[in-house]
Amino acid sequence: MRKLLTYLRPYTIVIVAALVMMFIELAIELAQPLIISIIIDEGIIAGDSDPVWRWGLLMIGLSFISLVAGVFNSFFAAHVSQSVGWQIRDDLFAKIQQFSFANLSVFSNASLTTRLTNDVTQIQNTLLMSMRIMARALALVIGGVVMAFVINWRIAIVLLVTVPILFVFLVWLFVRAGRLFRGVQKQLDVLNGIVHENLTAVRLVKAFVRRKFEGERFQRAAEQLRDRTTFAFRYVEVTMPVILLLMNIGIIGVLWLGNVNINTGNATTGEVVAIINYSTRTAMALGVFSMIIMNLSRAKASSDRIFEVLESKVDEFENDKRVDDKAIVGDIRMANVSFSYNSSPNQVLRNIDLSFEPKSSVAILGATGSGKTTLMQLIARLYEPDDGQIYIDQSSIDTYPLKNYREQIGYVPQAVTLLSGTIRDVVSFGHKHADDEQIAKALQAAQIYETVIGLPEGLDTLIGQRGVNLSGGQKQRLTIARALLRKPSILLLDDSTSALDATTEMNLLKAIEAYGCTTVIVTQKVSTTKAMDQVILLNNGEIESSGTHEDLLNRSAIYREIYESQHERGIPNEKSNESPILLRLEKVKSDARSKQASR
Ligand SMILES: Nc1ncnc2c1ncn2[C@@H]1O[C@H](COP(=O)(O)OP(=O)(O)OP(=O)(O)O)[C@@H](O)[C@H]1O
Ligand SMILES: [Mg+2]
Repeated sequence: MRKLLTYLRPYTIVIVAALVMMFIELAIELAQPLIISIIIDEGIIAGDSDPVWRWGLLMIGLSFISLVAGVFNSFFAAHVSQSVGWQIRDDLFAKIQQFSFANLSVFSNASLTTRLTNDVTQIQNTLLMSMRIMARALALVIGGVVMAFVINWRIAIVLLVTVPILFVFLVWLFVRAGRLFRGVQKQLDVLNGIVHENLTAVRLVKAFVRRKFEGERFQRAAEQLRDRTTFAFRYVEVTMPVILLLMNIGIIGVLWLGNVNINTGNATTGEVVAIINYSTRTAMALGVFSMIIMNLSRAKASSDRIFEVLESKVDEFENDKRVDDKAIVGDIRMANVSFSYNSSPNQVLRNIDLSFEPKSSVAILGATGSGKTTLMQLIARLYEPDDGQIYIDQSSIDTYPLKNYREQIGYVPQAVTLLSGTIRDVVSFGHKHADDEQIAKALQAAQIYETVIGLPEGLDTLIGQRGVNLSGGQKQRLTIARALLRKPSILLLDDSTSALDATTEMNLLKAIEAYGCTTVIVTQKVSTTKAMDQVILLNNGEIESSGTHEDLLNRSAIYREIYESQHERGIPNEKSNESPILLRLEKVKSDARSKQASR
């Protein structure tokens, strides 16, 4: 919570103004019982209507001032809380944008969303409350007790018993309920996570007929939230009855002491009325504390969660050595590179040595989980290797300014992610100033141009969030066009051609060749590896073998196995010059023809 102060500093003047207004309101409120006591003693009991009029009018005048002060206080408090909330949100968003992949794996999307929305709102509400209600309640308790003593200490002495008891009770409650409410907030996070996950994966849930299961998971979390909240509120609800009990005991004490002192001539009726008035106001102000406790503990949880994001170290490895931007030709070399995620002992890549010529094409092949994506991410510098070095154009990868380096990389991740917007927006995501001609060229290369111009609105076609109204293969090709539009020096396609048929894939590879970039393609298809200058076969984080397709056929038993498994009857047609995949395609077509003929 203390960290919030840095956000409040720019608003010091407005906060002081809000507090001054609050004190004016409070001073008037505290003066009222005093005025009432004077009206009783000098007017009503003395039978003189003059003081009643005089003091009555003063009270009305003061009430009006109090009203104006209250309005201004609200105005200032709202300004501060909204501005601070906006600033925190802005900073949070900027911070999340800076996050590296490693940072992003620490926080789930759902939790970041809650932090940006609920948590900031909680802070805003608490700030507003602290300037409107909390400061006032605290000042009212102190002011009420002081005023009671000023009026008549012989009676006010009762407050010295009741107020400390209440105070100790509230501190105990604060500690206890505070912890419970933080638990409530955590459970709310869990629930939000489930909702978020289900909304993003609603199709998956339906397809796998998991509605019942997911429904039950949600219900369990919701029930836990209900139970925890109910339990926490029980503590808060007990406050009011305790306060009322002590207040009533206090009033009886005041009446009894008042009676004694009036008889001995040490007090007046008006004074007794005034002190009762002060003690009820003090008790009510203390009652507000239960609400404050709830709010503060929620705000504490929220602020902890916000600052956890704001203060997390961004391990985006931008170098400080002020090096100039450099154009990359696309020579890639890895020397003895090893890597593990989050420094776990489990090494995902081990002793990788490889070298890609500029403008050459490389296929990465390997079983699932063998480290293909990880290798691509290391080349894109989304992670740093634990050991070894990566060289780009003979210079260590970390001698390039990160932004400059990434601008020259066209990365098509394995999972298709398209932001919402028109096809033009989506494709020009990495190159905002591209004109339609450049976009068309990239779409042509990605083998999707015909499809796009076939759409009624062409480039202006809106595609929904995550591109829901496109097929998997179409989306994949848009992400390829998005990467090609940047005219990258290094193109990384992570399993991006899986949804393409053989002919389209060959056309795509040919078009990419014209871009003259070093192309690294993760693939499972031997038809692709055949067309590449070099093939790297990964096995369980290590390079099993590398070389041309023919080299690997001779050298690697695993590669041969993959090759044969993808060929009909396991016998490649050695004599034919045609690609086996095309031969297979021919066979599929002739099969279909003969089937049709037999019908
Ligand atoms: N963000 C991550 N945090 C921790 N471990 C990870 C992470 N991403 C991948 N791994 C682990 O690293 C290993 C290699 O993963 P990688 O994604 O590189 O495999 P892959 O070869 O691309 O597999 P696939 O063919 O299924 O895409 C796997 O064992 C995986 O469990
Ligand atoms: Mg992968």
